[in-house]
Amino acid sequence: MLYSLGFCALMFFVIPVHIDKKENLAKKSQSQAKFNSFISRYNKSYSLDSEDYKARLEIFENALKTVKTMNGMRQFNESALYGLTEFSDLSPEEFSHKYLRKHHHEHKHRRNERRNDVHSIARRAIPSLPSMVDWRAKGVVTGVKDQGPCGACWAFSTVATVESMLAIKTGKLAELSVQEIIDCARNGNLGCNGGDFCSLLEWLTANQVAIEPATSYPLLLKNDVCKWKKSNPGILVAGNFTCDYLVGREDLLLQRIAEHGPVVVAVNAISWQYYLGGVIENNCPGQPELLNHAVEIVGYDLTSSIPHYIAKNSWGKRFGDGGYVKIATGSNVCGIANEVTSLDVL
Ligand SMILES: *[C@@H]1O[C@H](CO)[C@@H](O)[C@H](O)[C@H]1NC(C)=O
Ligand SMILES: *[C@@H]1O[C@H](CO)[C@@H](O)[C@H](O)[C@H]1NC(C)=O
Ligand SMILES: *[C@@H]1O[C@H](CO)[C@@H](O)[C@H](O)[C@H]1NC(C)=O
Repeated sequence: MLYSLGFCALMFFVIPVHIDKKENLAKKSQSQAKFNSFISRYNKSYSLDSEDYKARLEIFENALKTVKTMNGMRQFNESALYGLTEFSDLSPEEFSHKYLRKHHHEHKHRRNERRNDVHSIARRAIPSLPSMVDWRAKGVVTGVKDQGPCGACWAFSTVATVESMLAIKTGKLAELSVQEIIDCARNGNLGCNGGDFCSLLEWLTANQVAIEPATSYPLLLKNDVCKWKKSNPGILVAGNFTCDYLVGREDLLLQRIAEHGPVVVAVNAISWQYYLGGVIENNCPGQPELLNHAVEIVGYDLTSSIPHYIAKNSWGKRFGDGGYVKIATGSNVCGIANEVTSLDVL
C-alpha cells in the first residue's frame, strides 16, 4: 500500500528539464544540449538521466542526422527546409503510428478513374490556367485544425473542402463538424483509427447525411457515439463528387483547383515529421502503397522558382508554414495525384 502510494506520488515529481542547468550543459555534447532545449521548448517531460530520456535522446540524435541528409538535397532558396519539430523525439515508426494511417482506399471506390502513362503524355499547358491561385485570399478557407493523435485526416480534409465549397457557393464561411464524421461515417471508415475520403463521400451521399455546424456537434478528437439525426440541419454533399487518379495529368489537377475550387488529396506524409517550410521536391515518394495521410489543396503557385501546390494540413498552426505545406507540381511528389477529389454542396 505504502509502496504503491510512494510510487504514484513519485510520478507527480517528474520535473521537466530546464535549460537553466548551465554548468551541467556545458559538459554535455552538443546534441544533448539541443535535446534539452527541445525538451523545454516543447514542454516535454523527460526526467534527466532516466531510461526514457536516454532512449529519446538517441531518437533525437537520429533525427538530427536525418534532417542533415534531407537538407543536403536543397537546391534552391525555396526548397523545403527540415529541422526540429514537436515530433523530433518520436522515431519514424512511432510518428507514423501516432499521426499517420495506412490509406484504406480501395479501387472499387474510384470513379472516372484515369490511368495514364506518364511518358506518353506531353506536358500540356492549359492556356487559360492562371499562374497563381490561392483560395485563402478569397476568404473561403477556415482556420487550420489540430487532429492531435486522432487519425481522422480523412475527415478533417473532407470537411475542410466542404467548408470551402460551401463558402464559394454561398459567400459564407462556416465551420462544420468533423466529430460527426468521426462518430458516424461507416463504409469502412474507422473514426480516429483511419478512413478514406472517397468512401466517406459515398457514405455521405448514399445516406443523405448532412454535415452539422461544428458548434452543434463539437470536436472531441476521440471515437464517440454517433449523435447525428436525419432531422438535424446541416450541409449535404452533391452526388457527383470525383475520385480521380491524375498521376501524369497534374495539368488537370491544377485546372480543377483553378476552375472548380480546393480539392482533397491523399499523400505520403512520412517526411513531414521534420518539415519546417519551403517547397517539398525530394524525400517524398508517391507510390500508391505509401499513402498515409489526406489534406486539402487550397491553391498553387507556378510563378515560384519551384512551382508548387499549397496544402492545408491538420496538425495545428505550429506545423510547417503556419499549418500549411508546399508541394512541388508535376511529378506526383508525396503521391499528391493518386487520389484527387472535387466536390460540391447542395
Ligand atoms: C509551454 O508552456 C508554456 C507555459 O505554460 C507556454 O507558454 C508555452 O506556449 C508552451 N509551449 C509549447 C510549445 O507548448
Ligand atoms: C533567399 O531567401 C531570402 C529570404 O526570403 C532572401 O532574403 C534572399 O535574397 C534569397 N536568396 C536568393 C538567392 O534568392
Ligand atoms: C456537379 O454538377 C454540377 C452541375 O452540373 C457542376 O456544376 C459541378 O461542377 C459538378 N461537380 C463536380 C465535382 O464534378
